[in-house]
Amino acid sequence: MSGIYKAVKISDKVYWVGAVDWVIRDFHGYTTKRGSTYNAYLILADKVTLIDTVKAPFKDELLSRISSVIEPQKIDYIVSNHSEMDHSGSLKAVIAEINPEKVFASAMGTKALKEHFGLEGILPMKSGETLSLGNMELSFLETRMLHWPDSMFSYLKEEKLLFSQDAFGMHLATDERFADEIKEDILDYEAATYYANILLPYSPLVLKLLDEVEKSGLEIDTIAPDHGPIWRNNLGWILNRYRKWAEQKPTGKAVVLYDTMWHSTEMMARAIEEGLVAGGARVKVMSMASSHRSDVAFETLDAGALVTGSPTLNNNIFPTMADVLTYLKGLRPENLIGAAFASYGWGGESAAQLNTILSEMKVEIVTEPLKVKYVPNDADLSRCFDLGMTIAKKLKEAVKNG
Ligand code: FEO
Repeated sequence: MSGIYKAVKISDKVYWVGAVDWVIRDFHGYTTKRGSTYNAYLILADKVTLIDTVKAPFKDELLSRISSVIEPQKIDYIVSNHSEMDHSGSLKAVIAEINPEKVFASAMGTKALKEHFGLEGILPMKSGETLSLGNMELSFLETRMLHWPDSMFSYLKEEKLLFSQDAFGMHLATDERFADEIKEDILDYEAATYYANILLPYSPLVLKLLDEVEKSGLEIDTIAPDHGPIWRNNLGWILNRYRKWAEQKPTGKAVVLYDTMWHSTEMMARAIEEGLVAGGARVKVMSMASSHRSDVAFETLDAGALVTGSPTLNNNIFPTMADVLTYLKGLRPENLIGAAFASYGWGGESAAQLNTILSEMKVEIVTEPLKVKYVPNDADLSRCFDLGMTIAKKLKEAVKNG
């Protein structure tokens, strides 16, 4: 075992023993521009316990970091808080190598680990159950669908430390292990991007969970997620953001999202932008020729309006628009108003198709789709400008009523 990798002490008895992935740029369709980390934690209690493992190729890095403080074979328990492969991919190999006395997961986790990896004998833990580590105690809180059915939190009472698996995490490869060591604008961007691309569909559950944790009176000094930095002070910074993102209250910002074949749809997008600005809205114009779908999700997180445009290509919307709208629809953003616009040569089906997708996304459509044949003339661009003004006005009303 290489001794290169070292554990990082994060509290009296707890060490970070995860892996840093500087290379990853695609996390199931989400562009991870700054890489990621797969965090795992070692509790040096009487019963030495490992919380989560890492993605399969990083197994040796995990074991090396563990070896820097204790022989891996001295680990008594493993707790798997989440069975997605970035945290469980090396579990089977780690179990084979260290032969722990017991492995724990949520009831759904035991099922998933058996089905994914053929792992038998994993012990199920329910919400509210505790596990004695001798001189310390872990308790569990199932967080179903945050963001998989098996997900759960583990809480280490003696250190007031919450192991929160994916929640409160971010995809950010760094050598700093604590959030307070990293520039705030980076944390803000990466935490929001992560929420928008991973947790947004489960926002009602996030609100419920935040209320539950608040009411429980659980004392938390440290939140240790499975990705990105650890939160050890000013926990309100991340908790308040989660509440704001989950509430999705209407804002005065519009995202104008489009792709174009011969710049006609683009001309429409720019005229709509001008109308929105003239009407007092904040605007982000996103061409799918230069935007990634996960950047669109990030910009939509704090938007109140989504205005979408596409030319018609072979009787359909442009493929890039189909891609991004399929992705956004799955993320289930709430409280959006919007409209569709389209340029076309003969069929012009894209306008109605965009409108249908917006309806399916439960976007409140403020006006009929705006269609322009061939290259927009001055009158067409005026109609686009007016569409922008109309949306800006509706946005103001939505914010007022929000
Ligand atoms: Fe980081 Fe849902 O896995």
